Amino acid sequence: MSESTGSEGRRFPAPEQLAASANVGPDVYAEAEADRLAFWATQARRLTWAQEWDEVLDWTNPPFAKWFVGGKLNVAYNCLDRHVEAGHGDQVAYHWEGEPGDTRTLTYAQLTEDVCRAANALLELGIQAGDRVAIYMPMIPETIVAMLACARIGAVHMVVFGGFSADALASRITDAGAVLVITSDGGYRRGAPSALKPAVDDALSRTEGVRNVLVVKRTEQDVEWTEGRDLWWHDVVDRQSPQHTPEAFDAEHPLYIMYTSGTTAKPKGILHTSGGYLTQVAYSHWATFDLEPDTDVYWTAADVGWVTGHSYIVYGPLANRATSVMYEGTPETPHRGRWFELIEKYRVSILYTAPTVIRTFMKWGEDIPAGFDLSSLRVLGSVGEPINPEAWLWYHRNIGGERCPIVDTWWQTETGAHMITPLPGVTSLKPGSAQTPFPGIAAKVVDDEGNELGDDATGLLVLTAPWPAMLRTIWGDDDRYVDTYWSRFGREVYFAGDGAKKDADGDIWLLGRVDDVMNVSGHRISTTEVESSLVAHPAVAEAAVVGASDPTTGQGIVAFVILRGSATDSGDDLVQQLRTHVSKDIGPIAKPRQIMVVQELPKTRSGKIMRRLLRDVAENREMGDVTTLTDSSVMNLIKDKLPASS
Ligand code: PRX
Repeated sequence: MSESTGSEGRRFPAPEQLAASANVGPDVYAEAEADRLAFWATQARRLTWAQEWDEVLDWTNPPFAKWFVGGKLNVAYNCLDRHVEAGHGDQVAYHWEGEPGDTRTLTYAQLTEDVCRAANALLELGIQAGDRVAIYMPMIPETIVAMLACARIGAVHMVVFGGFSADALASRITDAGAVLVITSDGGYRRGAPSALKPAVDDALSRTEGVRNVLVVKRTEQDVEWTEGRDLWWHDVVDRQSPQHTPEAFDAEHPLYIMYTSGTTAKPKGILHTSGGYLTQVAYSHWATFDLEPDTDVYWTAADVGWVTGHSYIVYGPLANRATSVMYEGTPETPHRGRWFELIEKYRVSILYTAPTVIRTFMKWGEDIPAGFDLSSLRVLGSVGEPINPEAWLWYHRNIGGERCPIVDTWWQTETGAHMITPLPGVTSLKPGSAQTPFPGIAAKVVDDEGNELGDDATGLLVLTAPWPAMLRTIWGDDDRYVDTYWSRFGREVYFAGDGAKKDADGDIWLLGRVDDVMNVSGHRISTTEVESSLVAHPAVAEAAVVGASDPTTGQGIVAFVILRGSATDSGDDLVQQLRTHVSKDIGPIAKPRQIMVVQELPKTRSGKIMRRLLRDVAENREMGDVTTLTDSSVMNLIKDKLPASS
């Protein structure tokens, strides 16, 4: 667990003007507490339903929840058409900026037409409600169009982050049973075109069931073409009618699957459905960021390929008729002030990003943000990992001009939407703490037996009541859903996998994962997944992987490997080869920061690798208790192998 409680005790009350005018005031907590289901029903009425529900929640068969039972709606209609019908067709939905500096502005009317064309194209390709569609794309508007086109016709999208490998894509396509892949020739990253289509070709050589690949032209790179299977987006979509009548789907109709790492090597397909999900992402986006759709310019600086992008680039902002910024590239291209330049250019008023980016900006220095006009900002957000107080204070001072509240939002792919967060017009902020369960959410910190803890005692975070945006299952594996999340403390208590503590004021501090999941730059990566990749290499006999704390990325991946007797090389070349192997196998985000070749691994008498000790080594700490090791000299052998600097 990372220690994130080094706050120097300062509090930051809500700015007076914001406290007076914010969308949500202090009474919201009591209102939600008084009748949780009535509260969520009120929030569901923010959406337009083709048919209202008969029952807010059916929890008769926990942990299989049904929200807004009997209700019907179309998610894309709620994100698009209804705003156009209400006279907001000319409002900008996205100011899109490509990395090379090309721009596109999409109004709600244009986006609606684009989505209708794409929906008609999907229908022409034989896609039906319930079919799964894989989306493997860069950060371009067509990615959002593709997602909404699926939602419009009731197809289930499964977006795979463009940084994942062909292997990762193949296993997800197979697990989800996708019949169509939407991709592009490539996207721009770090000043150069980066190809995507070859990974799709590679993945499809190992999977069955995909009938077509729809390819958006972005970079003009050469692509290989499989006649009869591959189709250009512009050939198929552009000629379609810009009109399409949306069909209303059941509130529990599947909306999307998003794969995330768990404690085993096999990623879990988290399933989200329609009515409850859209209710909570829309309400939380409006309440947590105090969104004013007529005046704010909102920017979630994350990739659409993660849940943050799904909920707070696409569904929440569009359901609320926000004007958003979407940026294709990296923060340092072509210079380290790119993000600040975008904030200045589009007069961004709400910025949502991850602590790892803030720590990178800290490294680059405060002179960079100081060179731009950031006065349009009024609310800042953080997500993905605990934000250490030092980074919080830097963000507050150098980006927020000491006037913008920072909402530190704790949530997960599984929760779908914000679960623990301050509210900008209400909460007196404590740097480093996510503080308060969101209105309508019930969270506790408990010990191993499930007894509630307080007064700074460290325990486990649990959620004690179902919530509208909760995952409904793991795709194709109800048993794993129950086992992973709803068995530790009974079938009605959700085990989040995070350590936490509650302080004397009742504020919650998140302390990192308690399982074998690492958090690298806000991305979840399983130690087991990296270990399996390493042992799949012919030179490796055994591998153990730990997340070691890292000043910039939160955690860095450190691997210990034992080589096979037949391995001829054990030097730097091999280490580089192994790093590249993992990067190719899983994706560049999983590339180990460091690989150490060792003779043995520390194991308990029952054969379990003692990662705790390896973490001590990786973090260059005095070693903890070694008495349970089969052979305590193993650790000395490992330490002897270390270069003096690590
Ligand atoms: O450990 C928590 C951490 O990220 C995990 C969820 O990762 P993922 O499903 O990839 O979703 C990331 C974006 C929502 C959690 O179990 N985490 C996320 N936000 C915070 C956090 N840890 C502390 N504070 C946060 N604000």
